[in-house]
Amino acid sequence: MNSRIDFLFSSLVIFLITSNISASIGGNETDYQSLLQFKLMITDEVLLSSWNTSVHFRDWSGVSCGKRHRRVTALQLKSQGLEGSLSPHVGNLSFLRELYLTNNSFQGMIPQELGRLTRLRVLDLGRNRFDGVIPTNLSRCANLNDLRLDFNKLVGSVPKEISFLSKLPILSLRTNMLTGGIPHMLGNITSMEVFSAAENPFGGSIPDTLGRWRSLRGLGFGGCNLSGTIPDSIYNLSRLANFSLAGNQLAGSLPSDLGARLPYLVLLQFRSNNLTGPLPPSISNCSKLTLLEMGDNYFSGKLTIDFGKLKDIYKVTLYNNNFGFGEADDMKFIDTM
Ligand SMILES: *[C@@H]1O[C@H](CO)[C@@H](O)[C@H](O)[C@H]1NC(C)=O
Ligand SMILES: *[C@@H]1O[C@H](CO)[C@@H](O)[C@H](O)[C@H]1NC(C)=O
Ligand SMILES: *[C@@H]1O[C@H](CO)[C@@H](O)[C@H](O)[C@H]1NC(C)=O
Ligand SMILES: *[C@@H]1O[C@H](CO)[C@@H](O)[C@H](O)[C@H]1NC(C)=O
Ligand SMILES: *[C@@H]1O[C@H](CO)[C@@H](O)[C@H](O)[C@H]1NC(C)=O
Ligand SMILES: *[C@@H]1O[C@H](CO)[C@@H](O)[C@H](O)[C@H]1NC(C)=O
Ligand SMILES: *[C@@H]1O[C@H](CO)[C@@H](O)[C@H](O)[C@H]1NC(C)=O
Ligand SMILES: *[C@@H]1O[C@H](CO)[C@@H](O)[C@H](O)[C@H]1NC(C)=O
Ligand SMILES: *[C@@H]1O[C@H](CO)[C@@H](O)[C@H](O)[C@H]1NC(C)=O
Ligand SMILES: *[C@@H]1O[C@H](CO)[C@@H](O)[C@H](O)[C@H]1NC(C)=O
Ligand SMILES: *[C@@H]1O[C@H](CO)[C@@H](O)[C@H](O)[C@H]1NC(C)=O
Repeated sequence: MNSRIDFLFSSLVIFLITSNISASIGGNETDYQSLLQFKLMITDEVLLSSWNTSVHFRDWSGVSCGKRHRRVTALQLKSQGLEGSLSPHVGNLSFLRELYLTNNSFQGMIPQELGRLTRLRVLDLGRNRFDGVIPTNLSRCANLNDLRLDFNKLVGSVPKEISFLSKLPILSLRTNMLTGGIPHMLGNITSMEVFSAAENPFGGSIPDTLGRWRSLRGLGFGGCNLSGTIPDSIYNLSRLANFSLAGNQLAGSLPSDLGARLPYLVLLQFRSNNLTGPLPPSISNCSKLTLLEMGDNYFSGKLTIDFGKLKDIYKVTLYNNNFGFGEADDMKFIDTM
């Protein structure tokens, strides 16, 4: 009887020891080491002084842990004035779901190791000084639903592998130095709702595959050095609210039924392009429109938009176009404003 209790007892001890060891390898000890490595590559006096050994890491400023497994699930360090580079050890925080490092002064490359974070849902590295290319391995973070790399110094082209993130609704690449055109394969991310690529010297044209983004509400391509025409498939994105193509070299004319196909437009910015033909009167039916910027193009013909129907419009720019035929009622549209 006694020996049996002994046996149960000792196997219980062995169980405790082994579970403790497994918690150390690839467990909370790894998280602890990863956070220390993260801290090592940053210079900061204020925030990270709370990251010290007298306090458990789950109580460190900006660190969140899961209640059950006590692993790091979120790092929220927005606008903390952090300077330095991002440690590849962050890729060992295997339970991480949210990484917000927005608006700091991180520089250097975005580590490929982030691709190991398969539970990651939000990656916001916006408003830093990251340079180098977008790591291909980010495509392995299959659960990402918000990826923001905006306002950095990223170069090279958008890896076509990013299109493997088939559940991604938000992708912001705004204001970087990305080149190499807009990859056709991005059209495969059919969950896309907001795609912001403005202010990058991409070059090339708008791929017609983007017409597959049927849930799209925001499309920002301003200042992307794009040429060619606007593919007709884009006018099939009927939920589009914010649509900016300003400051490119896009040519061709707009479809006469634009207003009927994009009825929910709020913002329409096509200024500073090479667009020709008339401004479709159907724009009068975009009843939610607040901003219409069409200046600096080669639009022509009589302007017949009924601005009276656009109750929320607060800004219209039409300068530098070829409107009117010198007829007496050329300026009649002003009466509708
Ligand atoms: C990791 O977990 C083990 C077992 O729960 C515990 O003894 C140890 O203190 C933990 N280490 C850290 C750094 O949290
Ligand atoms: C450690 O961090 C705590 C707050 O988390 C702070 O009160 C304490 O002063 C810090 N200790 C040192 C030595 O910086
Ligand atoms: C960025 O962080 C600085 C402090 O480091 C703050 O003053 C500024 O308002 C922040 N900007 C944004 C856009 O959050
Ligand atoms: C954590 O990541 C670093 C760099 O990516 C790697 O060298 C190291 O072996 C990893 N450590 C553990 C405990 O997984
Ligand atoms: C990047 O992903 C590949 C598989 O696609 C893998 O073999 C490699 O180890 C990953 N690199 C890092 C640094 O995690
Ligand atoms: C992605 O889209 C391209 C066309 O843009 C297509 O050729 C390719 O097969 C698609 N890939 C996957 C994995 O769906
Ligand atoms: C714009 O793109 C064209 C090719 O499409 C390229 O030749 C030109 O250098 C680019 N201009 C800028 C300012 O990036
Ligand atoms: C549209 O633009 C407005 C103003 O910039 C912004 O507040 C809103 O969030 C944008 N909506 C989408 C879906 O992009
Ligand atoms: C636009 O949608 C219509 C109706 O679903 C479809 O017949 C047409 O082929 C689409 N056009 C493009 C260019 O995708
Ligand atoms: C756009 O118009 C400008 C000015 O007329 C011209 O120099 C440029 O070649 C045109 N670009 C395209 C792509 O048509
Ligand atoms: C606006 O929509 C109505 C209803 O669909 C249609 O009859 C009318 O012709 C449209 N107006 C313009 C200017 O396209």
